Amino acid sequence: MVKHENPNVYVVDSRANRPPVLPRLGQRPRRAGAAQTLLFLLVSVALCGMTIEACFIYRLYFLEPAASASSSRITGGDDVTSTTKRPSYDVLPSKPVAHLTGGNDVVHGQQILAWSMIAEPILHEMGYSDSDRSLIIQKEGYYYVYSKVFFLEKGTFYHSVEMNTGMYPGKSMILQRSRKYSSRKSKGRSNSYLGGVFHLYKDDALFVKVSNTSKIQQHKSFENYFGAYMI
Ligand SMILES: *[C@@H]1O[C@H](CO)[C@@H](O)[C@H](O)[C@H]1NC(C)=O
Repeated sequence: MVKHENPNVYVVDSRANRPPVLPRLGQRPRRAGAAQTLLFLLVSVALCGMTIEACFIYRLYFLEPAASASSSRITGGDDVTSTTKRPSYDVLPSKPVAHLTGGNDVVHGQQILAWSMIAEPILHEMGYSDSDRSLIIQKEGYYYVYSKVFFLEKGTFYHSVEMNTGMYPGKSMILQRSRKYSSRKSKGRSNSYLGGVFHLYKDDALFVKVSNTSKIQQHKSFENYFGAYMI
């Protein structure tokens, strides 16, 4: 009897093992639910992406004429000249910046270089005074100031960036200078580059001075330049 009962017990045990199977069967709808949620999420993400894309396309075609001109270039529009056009300033600099170059319109002083207002200068939150041939600071701060000139090596030459400031009226301050000594018979040409950081105040007037502007070589506007930007 005991031997008969034991197999029964084992049978009961094996049945007791089954219940874990039943919940597994019951999990099916739960898995389907998770899959549905995932599908819903994926579709939502796709729809969001399409909506954002639609917004970008709308902006490109109806709100930014410059940008739509460039897109016509991509689609093979016959407007070939637009490819050579400089990008328009849709994005303004976040800080004051200036970059001036030489040009056919400039008239230098004896020692102070003038900068072109037709050779597409960059002037943002900074001014240029034609009469003083100076960059005028409009916002106080730290600026990186630089200048490069291309010059005739003959005798003594110097290149400096100087400043007229309200703190020392009537006197110009030298911010940076380079020098070059060559023989008087030299026919060589050389470049001088200056760059450095300075604390500048509103209405400070920066200008580039050389020992004699007759030594400045100006074949192309990008050979001589002067600029500053707030850091
Ligand atoms: C600059 O050079 C020119 C020609 O070489 C000369 O006549 C003039 O006196 C010079 N100016 C200065 C300020 O040295």
